Amino acid sequence: MTASARWRRLVRARLAEIERLEPGRGTVGAQYWNAARARRYAAQVGTTVKDDPLFRRVRAEVGRDSSVLDVGAGTGRFSLALAPRVRHVTAVDPSPAMLRVLDREARRLGAHNVHPVVGTWEEVEVAPADVSVCSYVLPLIEDARGFLAKLDAATGQRAFVYMNAASADLLVDALWRHFHGRPRRPSPTYLDAVAVLAEVGVTAEVEAVEVPTRSHFPTLAAAVKAYRDLLVLPDAPAVRRELHALLASWLVEDHGALRPPLRSWPAAIVSWRPRATRAGGPH
Ligand SMILES: C[S@@+](CC[C@H](N)C(=O)[O-])C[C@H]1O[C@@H](n2cnc3c(N)ncnc32)[C@H](O)[C@@H]1O
Repeated sequence: MTASARWRRLVRARLAEIERLEPGRGTVGAQYWNAARARRYAAQVGTTVKDDPLFRRVRAEVGRDSSVLDVGAGTGRFSLALAPRVRHVTAVDPSPAMLRVLDREARRLGAHNVHPVVGTWEEVEVAPADVSVCSYVLPLIEDARGFLAKLDAATGQRAFVYMNAASADLLVDALWRHFHGRPRRPSPTYLDAVAVLAEVGVTAEVEAVEVPTRSHFPTLAAAVKAYRDLLVLPDAPAVRRELHALLASWLVEDHGALRPPLRSWPAAIVSWRPRATRAGGPH
């Protein structure tokens, strides 16, 4: 089996599991990333990028004249942090709700060089950029090969893909098994991504880094809501009560908020020089 076929099988099995547990929910597309999730996501990740290893790595790669493509930009933590350092940022995402948060924040910051584009990466037509960033998106994509080939073709200088280096499922594995009685179907990993890139003709570099824990919850009730969503559990009083008790004994207090009892999580920065550049072609 090819790496891209294996990837597709893993993504489909995981989506099918979610569909079985909560029909119609999905984990991709605008209907999943709705206004409520966009708000919660922005609240969780909003301020963490300045200490983020990928941000530091991309910052070193760009200059005042650079153009940046942020694929699956979400609420825009990378787009907005990079905007003051570059000429132009194109932020692609299929979720209007996520991009609305990004756009609002861009206006507030006076970042007029950030241009949101609504659509999936597979379907949009955008100009190529010097540097592309795709952070925590790839495991949601069935056709990783087509997605990565398009990213390669749209990048002139260096492409960056950011993924967990250890599955985040490990962190909540005990809770998943407790409620569902079996392990979760696994996601593809960064090693699968490297294998798919090899199929596209790209030899990627991988840097393992530690990312500060992003999950912070203002209250236990907010944590219960977020973990019920993460664990694909029904919104039933008994489930909420049980989750409340389990999280109360597991989450720790940190600067007036609650977070899981770890300060960082390993991630992989997968990056490469695009084929066209390596071949001395135009960019
Ligand atoms: C976990 S969020 C990551 C957001 C942002 N890159 C970050 O690191 O904060 C995943 C994002 O991928 C987007 N997404 C899902 N499918 C996509 C696709 N086919 N093309 C582009 N973006 C996609 C979702 O709408 C969502 O905003």
